Amino acid sequence: MTASRLDGRLCASAVENSLKVEVQNCMDSGVNPHLAVVIVGDDPASHVYVNNKVKACERLGIISTHISLPSNTTESELVTEIERLNADASIHGILIQSPLPKHMDEEGITDLISPSKDVDGFHPVNLGRLVQGRTDGMLPCTPAGVIEMLKWANIETEGKNAVILGRSRIVGMPMSLLLAAKGCDSTVTITHSRTQNLAEVCKQADILVAAVGIPELVKKDWVKQGAVVVDVGINRVEDLSIERGWRLTGDVDPDVAEVASWLSPVPGGVGPMTIAMLMINTINAAKSTI
Ligand code: GUN
Repeated sequence: MTASRLDGRLCASAVENSLKVEVQNCMDSGVNPHLAVVIVGDDPASHVYVNNKVKACERLGIISTHISLPSNTTESELVTEIERLNADASIHGILIQSPLPKHMDEEGITDLISPSKDVDGFHPVNLGRLVQGRTDGMLPCTPAGVIEMLKWANIETEGKNAVILGRSRIVGMPMSLLLAAKGCDSTVTITHSRTQNLAEVCKQADILVAAVGIPELVKKDWVKQGAVVVDVGINRVEDLSIERGWRLTGDVDPDVAEVASWLSPVPGGVGPMTIAMLMINTINAAKSTI
């Protein structure tokens, strides 16, 4: 078997096309959706992600304000910035790019964003709603993007065994909640660094979502014939055979394509979907002010 490509670029572009009319409807009501993206420090990968978010806004006619702060910014300076953005009625969405520098309390910072502007869906109010099974609010973008991609490919989730590798606040934990929620109805197992017999647990999966940040951890013999495999990993690994000296790879070994029915590529899989979902959250935040 050679897996079909779970193509996030194609799916994201379909989502974006459907959003253009939504932006126009907002404008017709006198509201131009506006996203503020804040990045602290000079991590090159994070700057690439933030630039991609700003470009997506440009494609859709969403206003973006890109705030880039130096790595020696103090936590109280960042708090002041967030308070200013919370108070500015012309801004509908606030995103603080993760990771923040080590001297900052990232979760404490997340708590300060107004829940109605929390387009990342990381505020305890928004995550709490998700725990309650309320999937109609601000959903974390990466897991929501995975669900959208599964729907786009007509992949059945009801009653399926879904195994999630990783229990992070940003991906693994909300991913498991979304897959278990009414409407998706999967039977979910969350695995992490202390899980025993990880390969055997993964082999039970009809749907396997890898989000651990370990290059090519998931091997072909961990995967059941015909399973759907979603690779959320995005890792830079040294590769001296190419000029820049590194390449991007996921958490899944490419050989998995020999046994899976679907496999999302890296890059071009989950990444574009995260951005498409951010655009949805921003438009919804703007709509809620009309
Ligand atoms: N860093 C990696 N993924 C994300 C994300 O979805 N949102 C933010 N804010 N930072 C990230």
